[in-house]
Amino acid sequence: MSPPDLHPVPPEFAATARLKRDDYERLYAQSVREPDAFWGDVARRLDWMQAPTQIKDVSYALDDFHIRWYADGELNASVNCLDRHLATRGDKTALIFEPDDPAQTAQHISYRDLHARVCQLANALRGLGVKKGDRITIYLPMIPEAVAAMLACARIGAIHSVVFGGFAPQSIADRVHDCQSKLIITADEGLRGGKKVPLKANVDAALKLPGTNSVETVLVVRHTGAAVNMQMPRDRWFDAVVDGQPVQCEPERMNAEDPLFILYTSGSTGKPKGVLHTTGGYLVWASYTHESVFDLREDDIYWCTADVGWVTGHSYIVYGPLANGATALVFEGVPNYPNVSRFWEVIDKHRVTIFYTAPTAIRALMREGEAPVKKTSRASLRLLGTVGEPINPEAWRWYYETVGDSRCPVVDTWWQTETGGILISPLPGAIDTKPGSATKPFFGVQPALVDANGALLEGEAEGNLVLLDSWPGQMRTVYGDHPRFIDTYFRTYPGMYFTGDGCRRDADGYYWITGRVDDVINVSGHRIGTAEVESALVSHPKVAEAAVVGFPHDIKGQGIYAYVTLIVGEGESEDLRKELVAHVRKEIGPIAAPDHLQWAPGLPKTRSGKIMRRILRKIAENAPDQLGDTSTLADPSVVESLVQHRRVP
Ligand code: WTA
Repeated sequence: MSPPDLHPVPPEFAATARLKRDDYERLYAQSVREPDAFWGDVARRLDWMQAPTQIKDVSYALDDFHIRWYADGELNASVNCLDRHLATRGDKTALIFEPDDPAQTAQHISYRDLHARVCQLANALRGLGVKKGDRITIYLPMIPEAVAAMLACARIGAIHSVVFGGFAPQSIADRVHDCQSKLIITADEGLRGGKKVPLKANVDAALKLPGTNSVETVLVVRHTGAAVNMQMPRDRWFDAVVDGQPVQCEPERMNAEDPLFILYTSGSTGKPKGVLHTTGGYLVWASYTHESVFDLREDDIYWCTADVGWVTGHSYIVYGPLANGATALVFEGVPNYPNVSRFWEVIDKHRVTIFYTAPTAIRALMREGEAPVKKTSRASLRLLGTVGEPINPEAWRWYYETVGDSRCPVVDTWWQTETGGILISPLPGAIDTKPGSATKPFFGVQPALVDANGALLEGEAEGNLVLLDSWPGQMRTVYGDHPRFIDTYFRTYPGMYFTGDGCRRDADGYYWITGRVDDVINVSGHRIGTAEVESALVSHPKVAEAAVVGFPHDIKGQGIYAYVTLIVGEGESEDLRKELVAHVRKEIGPIAAPDHLQWAPGLPKTRSGKIMRRILRKIAENAPDQLGDTSTLADPSVVESLVQHRRVP
């Protein structure tokens, strides 16, 4: 690592930063040495109905496994995000809504307005029979109603499960079935880059699939005004049910360990898991990390470009910013519509000061050159952030130099759906940055590297990333399947949480995430399990077997490479290839569509029948000279044919 690649904290930034260099060392040491005192203090940032006296109560030991934080505390997340700001920030803008079409007027929604909207919806949900602990599915575009819907659930103690608007009917149905949702909140249609997304029609199709009988009511937001099929009495227009409701609503008292939400995410095996987060620890974590990592000030205009369908939207569009009384921008659109300057134009239009996006978006915009950036001012910006996947140093530098005019620190934030919020990241006033490194652990976070046998690696090393102890924002269980939670995260390396990521630690103790080491592919920052794509492929009547791996992709970080064996007698053809890709889109959603599909007369298997993915990965990477030992294969000759017909970029 050459010295010019170290970006010291800019002195002007450090001068006014919330946390400075010495604060980091001091607070980090304290957070690890005295977790009860530290996290007890931090919890005072929230309004509790009953302040917690028990702080940390955790054991990762397999025979006495439990994770509890603030277990005797009581609070309501929506009160923390709304009510407590009314006296001092009632007229402050909570949300700026920037529609897909820039010609449509943006909306500014004050904390008072948002509070009223949330209370009305919460009252409506109660009127429809929703009670504390019920599950509600939210399948909405990026519109203010999505934020209101989450907070309305929180207000009455219902557990929300937000399903990304890009998921297909089967994926909605699987998620509804798994958590037995009672009600779905959706919209007539979504709009993205000028294209319509048939949300209500997707819900209709999902509810025709088996296992979805739990749904009693579908609330439909009128968004584009498109005509949709309304099936009475199940389907109700959102405005008809909500508009006449009182603007006050008694919040439910929630225990800190009562569930706040479920969010489904892909793992290495099986169907997506319902990651469950609870109320107290999660909210402490989301708000404290949001304030610290983004060095939040009262007058910031903060924009995170994620979708509320992902955890980044949950923690850093909704719960973190609103708990902190911030102004958050909600963007319905995409980076390249109506043109590739859109992000930068929106920054100028709303005078955005903090901008948080994904490496895949940065790489895509980088390809368009400097001109679309440089024609905008971006003078309002003071801090840039990235999340979702490793950022390559070239993209980091472009972001820093071209977008931020070499003025704004870049915070590369590493975390996961499971972690609830940021775990490894620079604090912009305290930690010097290096392009491509997520740098240092946040307070209370104890990363470590282990080798394949679980032995801890010291100093400069590369290995699997584990966390040695808990933090308040940690997930508490896989909804409905606690054994799966323990098996997935705590059994590989007993006594430690296994992240599934590979990582390197340099001589300065900086962490460099290298990507997933399990069968999860990270496509444009979206997690996709190879098993999910395989099962979608084999659900096609002409497919006998499928194996899916990731391969390096210039823009998306990773792409999806599928090997498909057809049923005997079925012919390989270009049409069938297209049909299979379309089939995956239809079964899971466009984000899971294979980028490349190769016919595989046979798959490389061990004599016990296990597919050797290592070999398939190397072929997909176009590195046939690195296949390693193939002598243990049942039939080594299949490899030769796969290599011959591989995709050569
Ligand atoms: C990857 C998104 C490198 C990582 C918040 C992790 C990253 C997975 C970074 C979680 C980063 C996320 N640098 N890799 N800054 N942030 N990842 O659950 O592989 O959608 O395990 O959460 O994304 O993805 P998830």
